[in-house]
Amino acid sequence: MDYLQINGGRKLSGSVTISGAKNAALPIIAATILSDKEVTLTNMPNVVDIRTLLKLLTMLGGTVAHENTVAHINNGTITSTKAVYEIVSQMRASILVLGPLLARFGECEVSLPGGCAIGQRPIDLHLKALESMGAKIEIKGGYVHAMAPNGLKGAKIIFDKITVGGTENIVMAAALAKGTTTIVNAAKEPEVVQLCEMIADAGVKIEGIGTNELSIEGTDGKPLSFKTVDIIPDRIEAGTYLCAGAITNSSITLNKVDHGHIRASIDKLESMGCTFDLKEDSITIYPAKELKPVNLITIEYPGFPTDMQAQFMAVAVMAEGESLIEERLFENRFMHVSELNRLGADIWLKGSTAAVKGVEKLYGADVMATDLRASSALVLAALVAEGTTNVRRIYHLDRGYDDLEGKLAALGADIVRKSGK
Ligand code: EPZ
Repeated sequence: MDYLQINGGRKLSGSVTISGAKNAALPIIAATILSDKEVTLTNMPNVVDIRTLLKLLTMLGGTVAHENTVAHINNGTITSTKAVYEIVSQMRASILVLGPLLARFGECEVSLPGGCAIGQRPIDLHLKALESMGAKIEIKGGYVHAMAPNGLKGAKIIFDKITVGGTENIVMAAALAKGTTTIVNAAKEPEVVQLCEMIADAGVKIEGIGTNELSIEGTDGKPLSFKTVDIIPDRIEAGTYLCAGAITNSSITLNKVDHGHIRASIDKLESMGCTFDLKEDSITIYPAKELKPVNLITIEYPGFPTDMQAQFMAVAVMAEGESLIEERLFENRFMHVSELNRLGADIWLKGSTAAVKGVEKLYGADVMATDLRASSALVLAALVAEGTTNVRRIYHLDRGYDDLEGKLAALGADIVRKSGK
């Protein structure tokens, strides 16, 4: 199993290009099921989760040609509507095929995703919403069996909670439904916005894009023809590199970013003393003279993202004073705390809040990655830890960061991937 070996203490400099957003690409790949013609996706990140979802499409009978950052997908050849456990258990986001498969074929079977390291993550809201649209849903043998032999019907969906994946699944289902679907309390993350724009560009009338209320006029079963989609920059990857600049006290430039999408991270780093130079699609971070502590609460977009919580905790470890970090989205997204403490951090957990007392120094150690963002927090801490840190179980990192070690090494970090235990 590969691990990352990092010798801490190097300053970073230079520039890094941000890849396409994994969490935008995944629903967009799922949305290609709404079409029976070829769709081209560009600026795809080179990460395992993308390859997993493309593999699922080929298992359904879709035709996929994927090289580097471009994928040509033709789902006119789909012969099966069963998303098997083997794939869904590797990646929860596979549940995103539920809405489009049901909408296009009138039935499907999708394995229930099962356990997750960061929280329970049920899909009850996705299922309830599809039922409101006329689907018959049964859970049998670990699979969601969904049926709508006469097609889905537009409905008014009120989500009890804002859900990114739930909103995406219902937007896709609604695109081919009969009549208008209204989603109240919809998610408005940039990834949801890009999915809506892709579907709207295919001729589906969608109102309220980028707001908490969406209204989608379905095509009554007629498959869509999509234009080429260029995946938006990954706001979480960008935020992670800003944290790399902040924690190593370095000035680095990020190319291919959308500042609007990373406003919450910029604001928090500014409050910690960092400064920024914003150009059209690049941003330079200048380090703080003295890194101040931060208080943050994770919340839906445009609030502070849960996917940046772990990385900010790593930065807060090096701040002068005590930071308070509250996680509101997922009940178990603090697995990185004990690993950061193994490097010498001083973090105490009480319920959903972590109190982080800044320390003078961290010391390299062997640590274990527990989920995607926790892994990048450990890498950030390792960049400033004295001595050598081995970050293990980096298959989590490979799921969502495009060449993290290559990009950090190009910025001057002493980081190498090694194989072995
Ligand atoms: C998306 O997950 C992202 N994944 C996650 O990124 C991200 O952390 C999350 O949104 C929140 O921003 C992708 O986009 C592929 P949710 P998703 O449904 O859609 C509860 C990363 O690191 N809920 O918005 O699964 C749920 O348990 C990943 O890249 C229900 O109760 O998240 C959570 O508490 C990890 N019932 C809250 O809603 C449901 O049916 C928000 O989850 C659905 C969700």
